[in-house]
Amino acid sequence: MCKINAMARILTGIQSTGVPHIGNLLGAILPTLELSKKKNNEMFSFIADMHSLTSIKEGPVIRENTYSVAATWLAFGVDIDKNIFYRQSDVSEVTELAWYLSCFMPYSRLQLAHSFKDKSEKSNDVNSGLFSYPVLMAADILLYDAEIVPVGKDQIQHLEFTRDLVDRINHQYGEVLTKPEISLNNKTMYVPGVDGKKMSKSYGNTINIFEADKKLRKTIMGIKTDNLGLEDAKNPETCTVFKLYSLLASYEKTKELDTYYRGGNYGYGHAKEALFKLICEKYGEERELYNKLMSNKDQINEKLEIGAEKAKKVAKNTIERVRNVMGY
Ligand code: ADP
Ligand code: TRP
Repeated sequence: MCKINAMARILTGIQSTGVPHIGNLLGAILPTLELSKKKNNEMFSFIADMHSLTSIKEGPVIRENTYSVAATWLAFGVDIDKNIFYRQSDVSEVTELAWYLSCFMPYSRLQLAHSFKDKSEKSNDVNSGLFSYPVLMAADILLYDAEIVPVGKDQIQHLEFTRDLVDRINHQYGEVLTKPEISLNNKTMYVPGVDGKKMSKSYGNTINIFEADKKLRKTIMGIKTDNLGLEDAKNPETCTVFKLYSLLASYEKTKELDTYYRGGNYGYGHAKEALFKLICEKYGEERELYNKLMSNKDQINEKLEIGAEKAKKVAKNTIERVRNVMGY
């Protein structure tokens, strides 16, 4: 049973592999912020910058991406007084826990990881960090005794590995680790990218809402549609523009667009323009704040350091507990 209504510790992370896109926002950042606002919930949100090294080797790129992910969380209102907001690499205890966990993770189970299969097929850099990625992710979660982990559906298997690791370790040593629940946001099972496939940094099909108006508009105008003419009636259910619009707009506005589609004399250009305007209106303040923060990185650093200090306290406690039962 998920403790969604009781007081709970929520945790989620986002890799610093690029500028966060609408999929990351709807699939991870906003649902986590929503949960964190519930009375008494305690939120840990972090930037998984060590995971990024599995795919990016340039230090300045990782650093810039880390600021970008941090600025996104901050622009969308993460409350650094109430929540614990930090950079994964600032709490090195996570790598120690990852080692302990790796000694309990069956190699044969890791071999079943879908994300490793996907990523290793697409990349020439198939390193062992990529293979043990789920173990570091489990350490991210277990280090902080997280109870609820909101993620998109592509992360479910990683969460299952984490839960399995808890069973193995607790079976061996007693109740040492906390078993987390998965929180899936159904509405946003997956957000499509401009080509209609799952929006992902690695597919180059993202919509970056922080871009200047002109560029953002150009990206939206590039969303793939079918070739129906202006006068033709259109099917909203198969259209990427409509899908994106419906994920962001109110029920009434979505209904209105549905009627335009089915009625004909309404072109994809009109729908794209409506989507562009919606994003600008809905996220105007956040776009401004993000860009302000990105031009003042010291401010981002200050906030992350506050979070790291709080996170370290919790992490040290867990590590001590684990070391103790393991005989160190
Ligand atoms: P990407 O695929 O762009 O590299 P990440 O793997 O860094 O994204 O994902 C970060 C978080 O955002 C995860 O919780 C993931 O499930 C969620 N997420 C990513 N893309 C989408 C999407 N298209 N729809 C819904 N959630 C997504
Ligand atoms: N693997 C996650 C992703 O690609 C990012 C991540 C790393 C994470 N550690 C985590 C998510 C811990 C939730 C909890 O999206």
